[in-house]
Amino acid sequence: MSGRLASNYPAWKKLQQLYDSERSNLVLKDLFAQDPARFSKFSKEYVSPDDPSVTFLLDYSKNLITKPVLDTLLSLVKEAEVESYRDKMFSGEHINTSEDRAVLHVALRNFGDFKIAEGGVDEVDGVLEHIKVFSEAVRNGDHKGYTGKTINTIVNIGIGGSDLGPVMVTEALKAYSKRDLTAHFVSNIDGTHIAETLRLCDPETTLFIIASKTFTTQETITNAESARDWFLASAKDKSHIAKHFVALSTNTKAVTEFGIAKENMFAFWDWVGGRYSLWSAIGLSIALVVGYDNFEKLLKGAHGMDKHFKETPIENNLPVLLAVIGIWYNDFYGSQTHCLLPYDQYLHKFADYFQQGDMESNGKFVTKGGQRVDYQTGPIIWGAAGTNGQHSFYQLVHQGTKLIPCDFIAPCTTHNPIAHSKHHRILLSNFFAQPEALAFGKTEEEVRKEVGANATEALVKSKVFEGNRPSNSIIFPLLTPSTLGALIALYEHKIFVQGVIWGINSFDQMGVELGKVLAKNILAQLGKPDDVKGHDSSTTGLIHYYQKYRKE
Ligand code: F6P
Repeated sequence: MSGRLASNYPAWKKLQQLYDSERSNLVLKDLFAQDPARFSKFSKEYVSPDDPSVTFLLDYSKNLITKPVLDTLLSLVKEAEVESYRDKMFSGEHINTSEDRAVLHVALRNFGDFKIAEGGVDEVDGVLEHIKVFSEAVRNGDHKGYTGKTINTIVNIGIGGSDLGPVMVTEALKAYSKRDLTAHFVSNIDGTHIAETLRLCDPETTLFIIASKTFTTQETITNAESARDWFLASAKDKSHIAKHFVALSTNTKAVTEFGIAKENMFAFWDWVGGRYSLWSAIGLSIALVVGYDNFEKLLKGAHGMDKHFKETPIENNLPVLLAVIGIWYNDFYGSQTHCLLPYDQYLHKFADYFQQGDMESNGKFVTKGGQRVDYQTGPIIWGAAGTNGQHSFYQLVHQGTKLIPCDFIAPCTTHNPIAHSKHHRILLSNFFAQPEALAFGKTEEEVRKEVGANATEALVKSKVFEGNRPSNSIIFPLLTPSTLGALIALYEHKIFVQGVIWGINSFDQMGVELGKVLAKNILAQLGKPDDVKGHDSSTTGLIHYYQKYRKE
């Protein structure tokens, strides 16, 4: 985040040379054969500095790296002054320069540990207490609806960071959830989303959580207004809104104008980025679903990773290692994408979550200093839960023409050991097999032995796996709230390190603005064909077609 061009660092130039000269030697089969200790050299066990039960193994040995490559990548970290920018983040400096804001999601899970000087940080404990008291009152039935019934349904209305984090975490921690409290998440402006959700709700027993940092987001406010209309159609009296609507926001004025009382607003601060906000009041739905104690464990698990990131030398620093390995593929191998593959159904939203986390953070083409970069920045993040992905897109990952670095993620133990953990053993056998197949492939010789002499050449060639496709593997004992917190923070800090090296601002999101402005302009022109003005012929033609066929 220095704002300097990464391609000017001496280490960057050296990496390019290494890539050009060593690429043909970076063959996983050979690297493993040459060094029986490769796994122990290129894997690390994380143990939370705060709680030894929070632990995982990161195996990065199946990457196209050698010690000289890794050392040079770590020199890049030094030259980009990542450690200094990390310290600036933790101390509350305004490293989000375009918006002149601090970047302090770490302050939300700090529990008084690091000294952070920024307005609002001293209010974090009070908001946590508010979340605790309110979530407990709803969960134990003290907070009743307007007819005296217990709340059994919550609907979180939010989008982007005000949706994806709570969705991902409540899914990930379903094993810890209160099963008689149903949670829905409405994000899309498409009326189908709120309409289909409301069909499942009873106004007497539903609590709406309006989650919006700005409280101006068109999707969220429109959905919230429709929810309020639906509620009032039954409740009639506006005073009942107080029992059924709460807001999570930084914008007190807009919240009160909407009709939500100040005491039903859970505050946060402009130094919490939307995509880093699940740790803030935005996490209210998480606390409601899994209980405040588990929400706190999630925060504490993340704090342990914050400490690791802040205090561990770069060569042992897991977010740093993931970041530089990612840069190696993104900027030297020309990989366009990065795949997240959790072998845990509970983590089925993990890739969706980090699509925003990573792509909204690092999808930037100018440095903080305003220069256009002459290298690739953030990768396209995608993925799905294993083993489903194996039956859809893995074909391309194994035998396609693109190099797709993958992270495989799995728990040793399942929360659902049905059939004596038979399912889990099969799942994990796939978790172990896929990185192995990607790395080592299957040679033509092996295929020939398998298919016999009568096979056609074409069949033989089609069954060859070239291998040498890189991956990281992360394995941990059990998916607990604290382990999940540590994993999320691991990826957050990876994104931070990459952003600093690329010299970009990972904490603004100017790229989402233009479309919003144009949509506003078009919305005002949708009435009659004559109103459609100032567009190219394609946009005009599309709008005219819509006007011809719409029925309202
Ligand atoms: O998509 C842009 C964005 O600003 C995200 O960064 C944010 O998470 C989302 O919109 C929702 O914003 P808000 O919480 O203010 O409604």
